[in-house]
Amino acid sequence: MTQPLRTVHTEDALVWLANNALPEHASVFTSLPDAVEFRHRDVERWRPWFVAAAERVLRSTPPHGCAIFYQTDRKLDGVWIDKAFLVQQAAASCGSALLWHKIVCRAPAGRATFARPGYAHLLCFSQRHRDAIEAATADVLPELGPMTWPRAMGLAAADAAVRWLRERAAARCIVDPFCGVGTALAVANAHGLDAIGVELHAGRAERARRLTLATPPAADRDGAPNPSDRQIS
Ligand SMILES: C[S@@+](CC[C@H](N)C(=O)[O-])C[C@H]1O[C@@H](n2cnc3c(N)ncnc32)[C@H](O)[C@@H]1O
Repeated sequence: MTQPLRTVHTEDALVWLANNALPEHASVFTSLPDAVEFRHRDVERWRPWFVAAAERVLRSTPPHGCAIFYQTDRKLDGVWIDKAFLVQQAAASCGSALLWHKIVCRAPAGRATFARPGYAHLLCFSQRHRDAIEAATADVLPELGPMTWPRAMGLAAADAAVRWLRERAAARCIVDPFCGVGTALAVANAHGLDAIGVELHAGRAERARRLTLATPPAADRDGAPNPSDRQIS
């Protein structure tokens, strides 16, 4: 069996997306940077950048492919910054349809959290692909799973997203234009899919070239996702 490919570019994602067409059978799975990672660290300057970046991602996604965003809101100075709303603003301006919106629990229901809410969003969009109603998957995911670093996607959520893209959207390649240390890329490769990442930070890009998951996704082995039996290297 041929090994799935992984390529990581150390570059500005928006420049890279403007200059490179994604492979025909690619879908996107990404997590756009928070205001604290933005070069100005100023929420009012970050907000329009975030919407424009989400729009660039959606416009770059092949028409029959899907783009999944994994985003966690912020609570800042008494104001809720709703990133699902911002991504949906981008989708509305480029005519991309919302296929589903899942909630991933970061804390048990009933527990208060502070700077970040007790859940993250997974939102899936496409220009042309449509999800069959009888193929519905869970809307509330009970846990994130282990994280490779504090700003990472949780592995259980990443597994669910990549599995959906492979099985429901016929993805053969996963592109993460803000790939961080490469969580989405490693999960894609573990599912047998090629992966392309872009990351501005050279050290993270280097980690993204090497990150591997020691075991294949549990759901592929026994049909029961079990994020706790994974190891990260
Ligand atoms: C929320 S983190 C992504 C984390 C990633 N999902 C993971 O699991 O490691 C966002 C990443 O985007 C990167 N980034 C910020 N601005 C960027 C840009 N203009 N182009 C490419 N990467 C950028 C940051 O360095 C950071 O690693």
